Amino acid sequence: MTATASSASSKRPRGGWTDASAPASAERPRGGLTDARAPASTESWLDVTPELARLPAADGGPEFASWRDRPAEQQPDWPDPDHLAAVTAELRQLPPLVFAGECDQLTDRLAAVARGEAFLLQGGDCAETFAGSTASAVRAKLQTLLQMAVVLTYGASVPVVKVGRMAGQFAKPRSKPTEVRDGVELPAYRGDAVNGFEFSPQARTPDPGRLLRAYHSSAVTLNLCRAFTTGGYADLHQVHAWNQDFVADSPAGRRYERLAGEIDRALSFMRACGADPAELRTVELYSSHEALLLDYEDALTRIDSRTGRAYDTSAHLLWIGERTRATDGAHVEFARSISNPIGIKIGPDATAEDVLALIRALNPDRRPGRLTLITRMGANRIHDVLPGLVRAVADDGVPVAWVCDPMHGNTFEAPSGHKTRHFDDVLAELHAFFDVHRAERTHPGGIHIEFTGDNVTECVGGSREVAAGDLYQRYETACDPRLNRSQALDLAFTVAESYRRS
Ligand code: PEP
Ligand code: CO
Repeated sequence: MTATASSASSKRPRGGWTDASAPASAERPRGGLTDARAPASTESWLDVTPELARLPAADGGPEFASWRDRPAEQQPDWPDPDHLAAVTAELRQLPPLVFAGECDQLTDRLAAVARGEAFLLQGGDCAETFAGSTASAVRAKLQTLLQMAVVLTYGASVPVVKVGRMAGQFAKPRSKPTEVRDGVELPAYRGDAVNGFEFSPQARTPDPGRLLRAYHSSAVTLNLCRAFTTGGYADLHQVHAWNQDFVADSPAGRRYERLAGEIDRALSFMRACGADPAELRTVELYSSHEALLLDYEDALTRIDSRTGRAYDTSAHLLWIGERTRATDGAHVEFARSISNPIGIKIGPDATAEDVLALIRALNPDRRPGRLTLITRMGANRIHDVLPGLVRAVADDGVPVAWVCDPMHGNTFEAPSGHKTRHFDDVLAELHAFFDVHRAERTHPGGIHIEFTGDNVTECVGGSREVAAGDLYQRYETACDPRLNRSQALDLAFTVAESYRRS
């Protein structure tokens, strides 16, 4: 089986996609099943009734409003609390964006990653924007993700679990709460879900109405993704088509084209043998974003009637950022109370005790697939820090998926003033990640990257070299610098080689 292409369709809860308007709450089992791993049934719909969402989790776990008693870092200063309350009340009435059964399925896939049987490919924009939620931009990102996944699946002979940093990545933590330009101080841009990028008092004032736009932009993006991945576009027989607008002048594109030719021949061979499996025609794709704005995430949390457990239905996987992972903080408390798979960013200053405390808080049952540790150390720190963390977790014996984010520890300012990353540093951190896991005999479980499907000039280096002097040409990110399509493919080829050797 490949976790790629949808062996899952047969296991997916049949009713799961369509049943948000299920029967009234009076008929619902209040406690439900307590085992989130119970087989998905045709009754896998989610309650959308707000009162039910306030109930404690069926297993006696924390009520998910408990995060409100903890310090919450990185929350916007909303100027009008009544407006925020009205918006969250509206969000509570809106349909879930994803279903509990899908989240459980991703947990199963990540358990396979933790066991060393699959590889996670997670990526997308640093910050999605409302203006960027267009069909062509979403398609270009998906094309790139699919191409990378093909390179990894074929090149490393491993099932690839595909998770987009897409359909919800609209909020950003910031190192400073304000930004000063020419002596004028305004609130920092915190992502389209909070305020506008433009440097004006009006745009930078947090506006709760943007949370509703974030929900709707997530819904249209997810809808497009679901259509592209199940409606024929992601069919492996299209392996050349994804490359068409790209191959001409790019070394990475030409390399991909050769690989696509080999896949084509393999598919023809299979067809000639009478095998034409349905698994090759669709792709299983999951959504993820940083669970940063707790009022938003709380408002989209629902109780699953199968299990009585709370799920944050804004995305399949939520991660906790490097700046908000305090064990006694509100973000960890919120994540404790939901049953989605959870990622945690781990920076170079994290100690083994920090990591073990997070694991104990977030995965007391030691459920495989529940926790993914996304390390983002920087190329010059990873060799010093990662081995100790990996050893401590291995000694503890708890199953986790180890994933490398080779972007966030390698950011610097170019002479032009652009925030950038050098592709060589990104590769150096990846190589170190594979080296450490080889030495510790643990599984290098995946990568978490920031990329876009367009030909931007935000990171320097790559086989179609972007020089520091080129950065101004197409610097379009709303936050951190992303790999362009060519750099993303270069990276996939390198990762496939490293994985094969590991
Ligand atoms: C991010 O993923 O965009 C981010 C801010 O990462 P980190 O929390 O690791 O700094
Ligand atoms: Co970023």
